[in-house]
Amino acid sequence: MQTHEIRKRFLDHFVKAGHTEVPSASVILDDPNLLFVNAGMVQFVPYFLGQRTPPYKTATSIQKCIRTPDIDEVGVTTRHNTFFQMAGNFSFGDYFKRGAIELAWTLLTTSIDDGGFGMDPERLWATVYLDDDEAAELWQEVAGLPPERIQRRGMADNYWSMGIPGPCGPCSEIYYDRGPEFGVEGGPIVNEERYLEIWNLVFMQNERGEGTSKEDFEILGPLPRKNIDTGMGVERVAFLLQGVHNVYETDLLRPIIDTTARFAPRGYDVGNHDDDVRYRVIADHSRTAAILIGDGVSPGNDGRGYVLRRLLRRVIRSAKLLGIDVPIVGELMSTVRDAMGPSYPELVNDFDRIQRIAVAEETAFNRTLTSGSRLFEDAARATKAAGTTVLSGSDAFTLHDTYGFPLELTLEMAAEAGLSVDEEGFRHLMAEQRQRAKADAAARKQAHTDLSAYRELVDTAPTEFTGFDELTSEAKILGIFVDGHRVPVVSHNGGPSPDRVELILDRTPFYAESGGQIADEGTIVGTGASVAAKAAVTDVQKIAKTLWAHRVNVESGEFVEGDTVVAAVDPRWRHGATQGHSGTHMVHAALRQVLGPNAVQAGSLNRPGYLRFDFNWQGALSESQRTDIEEVTNEAVEADYEVHSFTTELDKAKAMGAMALFGESYPDEVRVVEIGGPFSLELCGGTHVRSSAQIGPVTILGESSVGSGVRRVEAYVGLDSFRHLARERALLAGLASSLKVPSDEVPARVAQLVERLKVAEKELDKMRLANARAAAANAVAGAEIIGKVRLVAQRMAGGMSAADLRTLVADIRGKLGSDPAVVALLAEGENDTVPFVVAVNPAAQDLGLRANELVKTVGVAVNGRGGGKADLAQGSGKGAGGIDAALAALRAELGRS
Ligand code: SER
Repeated sequence: MQTHEIRKRFLDHFVKAGHTEVPSASVILDDPNLLFVNAGMVQFVPYFLGQRTPPYKTATSIQKCIRTPDIDEVGVTTRHNTFFQMAGNFSFGDYFKRGAIELAWTLLTTSIDDGGFGMDPERLWATVYLDDDEAAELWQEVAGLPPERIQRRGMADNYWSMGIPGPCGPCSEIYYDRGPEFGVEGGPIVNEERYLEIWNLVFMQNERGEGTSKEDFEILGPLPRKNIDTGMGVERVAFLLQGVHNVYETDLLRPIIDTTARFAPRGYDVGNHDDDVRYRVIADHSRTAAILIGDGVSPGNDGRGYVLRRLLRRVIRSAKLLGIDVPIVGELMSTVRDAMGPSYPELVNDFDRIQRIAVAEETAFNRTLTSGSRLFEDAARATKAAGTTVLSGSDAFTLHDTYGFPLELTLEMAAEAGLSVDEEGFRHLMAEQRQRAKADAAARKQAHTDLSAYRELVDTAPTEFTGFDELTSEAKILGIFVDGHRVPVVSHNGGPSPDRVELILDRTPFYAESGGQIADEGTIVGTGASVAAKAAVTDVQKIAKTLWAHRVNVESGEFVEGDTVVAAVDPRWRHGATQGHSGTHMVHAALRQVLGPNAVQAGSLNRPGYLRFDFNWQGALSESQRTDIEEVTNEAVEADYEVHSFTTELDKAKAMGAMALFGESYPDEVRVVEIGGPFSLELCGGTHVRSSAQIGPVTILGESSVGSGVRRVEAYVGLDSFRHLARERALLAGLASSLKVPSDEVPARVAQLVERLKVAEKELDKMRLANARAAAANAVAGAEIIGKVRLVAQRMAGGMSAADLRTLVADIRGKLGSDPAVVALLAEGENDTVPFVVAVNPAAQDLGLRANELVKTVGVAVNGRGGGKADLAQGSGKGAGGIDAALAALRAELGRS
């Protein structure tokens, strides 16, 4: 049964049973604690927690999921995918355990002719949580499972949560027995390769807090209702129903293996296990990469971008290890589109962008691999020169860390060069690095606020935001928190330091940081029992999207919970903030006008006077594109467009063409901000000017790269823009006065000076070389005779490079004639480096002298290394203090030979 049929039957089954079909959410939802959506239930979390009322009692979906913790298992086992489709059914306080078990069992075991999956009931097993007798009995009663095919497991396996605070509960998993040829009997508790998990039914009934592992977290209490969350692995069911060996050979992934095989010298499934794993890694990761890019991720060095980069690099390296030496990612993306497009139209509609980003990463990584190969060759040469055959662990680590070489690639290249690798040393350095990464992650986690203290307020009343209509509001203090702990009173005298106090109000004009706009500044002043209390607001953040927490510095008096206050935003601040935010929309609109619809927003930030805007785009903008963007923006400012906002349904806003940031989750009712009719239309909860002229001039400061495929423009707006221009004018005036020319002649004058400087530098180089040649001629005259060899061994002053030395050495060797001769020159190079070159003529080589051996003697004395051939070798060391010792060592060595 094809995957699309499995998806269709699943949805039909649950829609028929009264569920509302809900589309998959993006794999990126705006939760800083969750890198990617990893389960079907993620988009429903507020419904489970009771924060929002679900518009339906039951729902079903097929959710795009990303899970990368088991990335090393991909291709090795039969069943691990980094991207997979989770088919789920959800009940929000409607049916519970019995309903969930009945619905799952019927779909699995109903015959194929009658619309089910036609699985043999004799092959199905279930697990339940340790003390969940109710579920165990239901499996017997509803499904007729014999007790020996119902197994009990502990927290780690049968108690499900997202791994972070949120809804959780005991679960019951359904397994399919693939048969005795796949391992020993005994059910899932014994063998998870033979018994394949296909479906997890979670009985969502509690809320969890922070914790350290799957088995260790605090249960905060019951959820308002008992819910169901299930997840069936579509790829795994396809694997079983299609009679293939593993998930990678199912109908949506196998084509990627086949495309890869067209390029590879060695085929798939021809008896080489390592190759097969590489094929499967390519299939799995290419697909995940396409989905991630489709949902707005660009390759980068941290967070989501890093995951994408890692996946693409693993694809490229696996291809290399398969012996593929041409670019292949473009073709892989086309194959993913063809296979997945029917269910994921975004992969078709957005294909050009997806392919462009993936291929750009391949090109960049191939460049890195080339530089890495160069480093490898240097390291291999130095290893051999040092007389060993073991490449050091630290070389292998640098190749891994800086150039992304997996150890296996280094091992292969080393073997080709006749070397082995200090694998233990490598592993030691890797372990150290992992340790550092762990410590970083732990530190980050601790910085995350524990929301449980705020729960009571979250559950009672949200803060009303009044700031679209007024800048000053009367309000009541709902709660006071110090370091996240609730307190009844906070006072100025002896009170806590500024950044630790938060006031939560029932209404507020303060804009809380979101959508790229930073929080308002202003004051909160007591009017009731808190008279004489005054606080400066330094930051405002939303908690659970509904409570406004004002971080304050209590400047006088004391604030008491329940008291009335006046909250007042600094009008100048707000004016600047609106200029910044409206300016961002204008630059965004101008950018798309100039660059076209592929310039998709990737993030933004604005504060009074300044804005920055990130967007997906390959390559730098040209000077004329930048000027055009600035021009279009300022023309729209001058047109004095009216700015107006309204709320509407999400679908309607989208139909109007309103732009939304990928990956944000929006409620059904959204706010749209419109500037100048069609000029700019965006979903936005921010504060804006009333008409575009209020933004004032917009000056683009520059445009730069912030990761692969993402560019950033920065701009000043309003008075800051004017001040910036004034500063530039003053700078130019200063330059003109030092150069003693009128301002408009400054560029020509500077160009002329640069040209003259170049000529002077060339002249200087010539003179330096001429001096050195003269010195060389003297050197020839003063050549020493050691045994049968004429030796010129000299220290050269004046910042000479290795290239200068090579020219000179050749010069001197030529002048020394055909009798045995050795030339060794060491220079006092830049930054205390000591480049050196040794040459040995043929007659001296006949005596057994070798430049690549003599160079080692020199290297040791100047803390460096060198290598080369018998006639010419070179190297570099550090510390000119060692030069005399090096010369002496060389003389001594020649004396001995
Ligand atoms: N949330 C559960 C899981 O991911 C069931 O959907 O396994």
